[in-house]
Amino acid sequence: ATEAEDYDVVLIGGGVAGYVAAIKAGQEGMKVACIEKRGALGGTCLNVGCIPSKSLLNNSHMYHQILHDTKKRGIEVGDVKLNLAQMMKAKDESVNGLTKGIEFLFKKNKVDYIKGTGAFASEHEVRVNLVDGGEMSVRGKNIIIATGSESTPFPGLEIDEEKVVTSTGALALKEVPKRMVVIGGGIIGLEMASVWSRLGSEVSVIEFLGQIGGPGMDSDIAKQTQKILQRQGLKFKLNTKVTSGEASGDVVKLELEAAKGGKNETIEAEVCLVAIGRRPYTAGLGLENIGIELDERKRLVIDQEYRTKIPHIRVIGDCTFGPMLAHKAEEEAVAAIEYIKKGFGHVNYGAIPSVMYTHPEVAWVGQNEAELKEAGVKYNVGTFPFTANSRAKTNLETDGMVKMLSDKETDRILGIHIIGPNAGEMIAEGTLALEYGASSEDVARTCHAHPTLAEAFKEAAMSTYSHAIHS
Ligand code: FAD
Ligand code: NAI
Repeated sequence: ATEAEDYDVVLIGGGVAGYVAAIKAGQEGMKVACIEKRGALGGTCLNVGCIPSKSLLNNSHMYHQILHDTKKRGIEVGDVKLNLAQMMKAKDESVNGLTKGIEFLFKKNKVDYIKGTGAFASEHEVRVNLVDGGEMSVRGKNIIIATGSESTPFPGLEIDEEKVVTSTGALALKEVPKRMVVIGGGIIGLEMASVWSRLGSEVSVIEFLGQIGGPGMDSDIAKQTQKILQRQGLKFKLNTKVTSGEASGDVVKLELEAAKGGKNETIEAEVCLVAIGRRPYTAGLGLENIGIELDERKRLVIDQEYRTKIPHIRVIGDCTFGPMLAHKAEEEAVAAIEYIKKGFGHVNYGAIPSVMYTHPEVAWVGQNEAELKEAGVKYNVGTFPFTANSRAKTNLETDGMVKMLSDKETDRILGIHIIGPNAGEMIAEGTLALEYGASSEDVARTCHAHPTLAEAFKEAAMSTYSHAIHS
């Protein structure tokens, strides 16, 4: 075997966490390699996550809108047809363009891209099983694990990615199923349910808890979201547990039970999406060779500088603590390299936005009301509905509201929760306010252009410490 090549930093995993850290290390003048096994860079996010889902969400929304929401706008359309194969092709083109873009950035920043599966041989050496056959070894002064996450399986339901699917299969169905049942009313469940319902499927979502949206979504917002999605045709069964399931012939059958026990029923569909959360992925990494352990939720344990108990081995992204979000992974990637290079880095875990890309979008940052109550914090609530916003009115898109929570004593903003058109863009302003420690009055006294949706954000701030003008 040839001598292992030496690097300042070796990344295992070329997802958002891994590729961003690799580019940053290259920019800092370090010798860096990134090992990725899927044959394409960008990880879950670019290949089977954020990007393909947003492509389908955008185009299915356009289709749905053209079918159902043009007449009142004075647009008469004729023969509207779905070409699913073309919609999938458009999605694939977005994905391919972006993954190729990262390869280009790797070259630009002198990152060695190694296509293969990496496993620890020792604390400084990673053995790589190459995608094209053969093996090689690399040595890293620093090694960063960025191996991401995988869909949590539902016991007893075998995933075939055609009838019983994870998000990956749900992003690539070849035809619109007559009926779809979704286990889990979190973000993946609701985004994918929206796509297929808009394209014509009868979709039912089964959620164990009493509210949809997954962890973090404010209850008021979750209730409004559910109402709006129901109006769009989605069916929900909350407080309901799936006890077992099986695929037989052309249908998948699930047995349901009221979460608190009692009522049983059966539901059938042509496609079943399992969306009950994701879990860290560390299989085959050779962790046993270096004695690094996982916690009870299979996460790699780290300190504040992302170090495992072997200090030159760090962990970032979905395979460790914190929300499983691409932008969180990206922040950690930059910070981890800064810790290595300069000894300090920065991620504010209190100001990481969440966005659900349904229509309308739902977005939030900071704490929700239930969390503040539980922490015993006294707070003010300000809200502003989009029905009272001039731009939303002219766009005929008035569903939703902005809700702001601020400290009762100091007026410092503690949380912002939005359901409405473009909420995902608007939350950037909220995140900046939170990051800078703004009060609701700071936001309310900042001039916002008219007529814009962002004025709803300003007026929610006004109503938090004083009164909104337009409601
Ligand atoms: P990953 O992206 O999972 O990357 C890890 C990479 O490591 C993978 O490519 C894997 O092949 C590779 N790997 C694993 N083990 C090895 C090994 N031993 N050797 C070599 N390579 C290895 N987040 C958002 O912020 N916004 C969204 O809109 C959004 N939408 C999503 C939609 C869906 C359907 C899903 C499933 C997720 C979505 N996410 C979204 C979450 C987002 O995709 C993840 O948070 C993000 O991808 C995490 O990045 P990561 O680099 O930690 O892990
Ligand atoms: P999730 O944690 O958001 O939601 C899972 C839901 O399933 C929860 O509401 C939970 O109560 C429910 N559930 C769990 N077990 C169940 C059972 N047996 N029966 C019925 N319901 C059950 O997880 P999800 O939707 O799978 O997404 C995983 C992660 O992927 C998200 O937490 C997020 O980090 C990321 N993601 C982010 C997106 C975005 O930012 N727009 C889009 C998609 C995914």
